[in-house]
Amino acid sequence: MASETVRPNPADLGIEDLRTHVADEMQRTRDRSIALTSAVDDDELVRQHSPLMSPLVWDLAHVGSQEEIWLVRDVGGRQAVRPDIDDLYDAFQHARADRPALPLLGPTEARNYVTTVRDKVLDLLDRSPLEGRRLVEQAFAFGMIVQHEQQHDETMLATHQLRNGDPVLDDEPPPAAVDADSLPDEVLVPGGPFVMGTSTEPWALDNERPAHEVHVADFRIDTTPVTNGQFLRFLDSGGYDQPRWWSEQGWQYRQRADLRAPLFWKDDGGTWLRRRFGHVEPVALDEPVVHVCFYEAQAYANWAGKRLPTEQEWEKAARFDPRSGRSLRYPWGQADPQQGRANLGQRHLRPAPAGAYPTGAAPCGARQLIGDVWEWTASDFAPYPGFTAFPYREYSEVFFGASHKVLRGGSFGTDVAACRGTFRNWDYPIRRQIFAGFRCARTPDSDELG
Ligand SMILES: [Fe+2]
Repeated sequence: MASETVRPNPADLGIEDLRTHVADEMQRTRDRSIALTSAVDDDELVRQHSPLMSPLVWDLAHVGSQEEIWLVRDVGGRQAVRPDIDDLYDAFQHARADRPALPLLGPTEARNYVTTVRDKVLDLLDRSPLEGRRLVEQAFAFGMIVQHEQQHDETMLATHQLRNGDPVLDDEPPPAAVDADSLPDEVLVPGGPFVMGTSTEPWALDNERPAHEVHVADFRIDTTPVTNGQFLRFLDSGGYDQPRWWSEQGWQYRQRADLRAPLFWKDDGGTWLRRRFGHVEPVALDEPVVHVCFYEAQAYANWAGKRLPTEQEWEKAARFDPRSGRSLRYPWGQADPQQGRANLGQRHLRPAPAGAYPTGAAPCGARQLIGDVWEWTASDFAPYPGFTAFPYREYSEVFFGASHKVLRGGSFGTDVAACRGTFRNWDYPIRRQIFAGFRCARTPDSDELG
């Protein structure tokens, strides 16, 4: 067997290797931000492509502003670069729909600004002791800023998907499915305790902490995410017109928003087409469905005689290794996800067919838990027992509560730096422009258990 590259864990690196790792991650991330913002002309960069999203030029300067505030000023204690623009790029001050009207930095100014900030940060990285203060231990603040920029790269990718016009982004086809016909529809995860969350992953965010034991009863979970072909059967059976499959809130939203199919689908005289980053093409039946909201996922699950997994079930399926009794970093262990184990990082601008990435399977046999599509869970976004906000309340704490549902696993638009078995995403149950799909779960009947 070929040797495996383990994704570097900042906890295992000496100071110099840690500095190199941080600098590499920052550069890789910036390359993606540049690719996403140089794929369109300046006019498109400052335009709002959807009221759901910021202009791309806002995301770019916002990334620089957060990097300045956290690294240049807080970690470095250095003089501010542009304190006058803090408010413009504070996501809590201005709703996305209002951002185009702000006196934003223009494309050239924004590019110069992020470059100036980055130069200061690289200088700081060379000199920072990376210890002695929680914010810099194991380069946490640098890792947080890398993840923040990667999250905006995924947001910018969603803006590209909402943009009308010819394709401008390059990608390559994802790998094919392997043994898809012989895969079981679902796998059993036996009941019992497992360790959820983490206290040791150095760049894990506050909401992933601390590690804690959770007892989960027996459940079955789909081997792969629900495909377009499966979802089409729900649609063709009149699923969008039958309130019995929908929750009360879901049905209200279904009517109010006139939902009839996943976002970006179009009925072309009996054939379903989808628009994907400027390409109009037949819906690929074997790919996981994407661009459905929580309510659509929930209605499908009810129609299928199943339910959405809880967040606890999802994480147990993804991380619990019954041989060791431990929870894994990724479903397959420690190896780097980029070595053909998961569809992450915007290399393929679509999910891979259900059944791809057999070497990325979890111990329970489920595939594609990491990458391809974010997966809606049944759970509200809530703190783990022992949660403490770090480094600030606005990172997670202000979002806890019943208005946000948890999504897990990352999508083809998520970077490896911002995705791991413990990573939690959250959003409103009506969101459809994100790269979200789902898989179903169910509680086994008593006669199914030996
Ligand atoms: Fe942000």
